[in-house]
Amino acid sequence: MADKVRPTLAVVGATGAVGTVMLRILSQRADIWGEIRLVASPRSAGRKLAVRGEEVEVAALSEEVFDGVDVAMFDVPDEVAAQWAPIAAAKGVVVVDNSGAFRMDPEVPLVVPEVNGHTVRNRPRGILANPNCTTLSMIVALGALHAEYGLRELVVSSYQAVSGAGRAGVETLRRQISLVAGTELGTGPGDLRRAVGDATGPFPEPVALNVVPWAGSLRADGWSSEEMKVRDESRKILGLPKLPVAVTCVRVPVVTTHSLTVHARFQDEVTVEGAREIIATAPGVVLFDNPAAGEFPTPADVVGTDPTWVGRVRRALDDPTALELFVCGDNLRKGAALNTAQIAELVAAELS
Ligand SMILES: NC(=O)c1ccc[n+]([C@@H]2O[C@H](COP(=O)([O-])OP(=O)(O)OC[C@H]3O[C@@H](n4cnc5c(N)ncnc54)[C@H](OP(=O)(O)O)[C@@H]3O)[C@@H](O)[C@H]2O)c1
Repeated sequence: MADKVRPTLAVVGATGAVGTVMLRILSQRADIWGEIRLVASPRSAGRKLAVRGEEVEVAALSEEVFDGVDVAMFDVPDEVAAQWAPIAAAKGVVVVDNSGAFRMDPEVPLVVPEVNGHTVRNRPRGILANPNCTTLSMIVALGALHAEYGLRELVVSSYQAVSGAGRAGVETLRRQISLVAGTELGTGPGDLRRAVGDATGPFPEPVALNVVPWAGSLRADGWSSEEMKVRDESRKILGLPKLPVAVTCVRVPVVTTHSLTVHARFQDEVTVEGAREIIATAPGVVLFDNPAAGEFPTPADVVGTDPTWVGRVRRALDDPTALELFVCGDNLRKGAALNTAQIAELVAAELS
């Protein structure tokens, strides 16, 4: 029998990289949902996936799957979300969309609960957007510093994990690692590329034993779509539409957890002690910063955890108003599924 008290949730894209982590997160967090309906493409219809300790059959995406649903999380490609989120919203479902389809729509809030959670209530299209994983991997820490110091400029470089490109990204790295293991590859120009051949998956170059200064598609003047997302989304979330932001996105051979170096300039002088205290006390952020003891965040330790980890906190040598940080965040948890779950929980609290 349908649960009349607790809201019904649909997870659209339940079989994907983000969807898989979402089911794990839904099994770990407070059980606020009545029915949880799992949805994917017709390819996956009939598969059974575990959520909250129960096997649930996956349904193919259709208008009918939204009957009786209160909140739907969309973890599907942009074009699928662009087509189907408005269909769900027209049926009265509150959509929390993880794709890039609606993030910059002025009528769709772009929500990070720790930074701008109040925006969920204003949703004229019935759609709420979840930021890109690279933006999310740093924005909780930056939001806390901005609230205290007033952000004036950002210069960011990312070191992005392959799971940011979905299941295909992870499969590509694993295949390439098997190919290069135990060989001398990576010692002569082009040897790696010749060995990998066309099997570069969603990346323009081999990613094993390599770093690739590219993520996303080509935008004007040589910028990548991922770099533009970090800039546009940071501005929208922080409410700073003119914030100067310079970003370089780089793919590294890490399975999951994005890292970023951040140069953040503020309105007035900052101190390392003050910044450390803000970071250490901000909800959702962990300060892990003791280089003398070899302590700084790395993806190997951060993967599978919820917070944004911050280390290497320094004041810029040539600018007393700027900080240098190294930030790590699990791109599939806070960078995607966890933030979506948190937004959906805010909506559920409002509906209950
Ligand atoms: N990976 C990340 O770090 C990350 C972070 C933030 C946001 N995102 C965004 O989240 C979304 C999902 O990413 P992902 O990495 O999880 O991708 P993925 O691993 O490729 O999974 C895609 C999911 O979408 C479903 N799907 C594809 N075409 C569909 C269709 N026509 N109808 C219904 N379902 C369809 C797939 O179902 P089948 O299994 O049946 O094909 C699968 O469940 C994307 O918009 C991505 O940009 C990803």
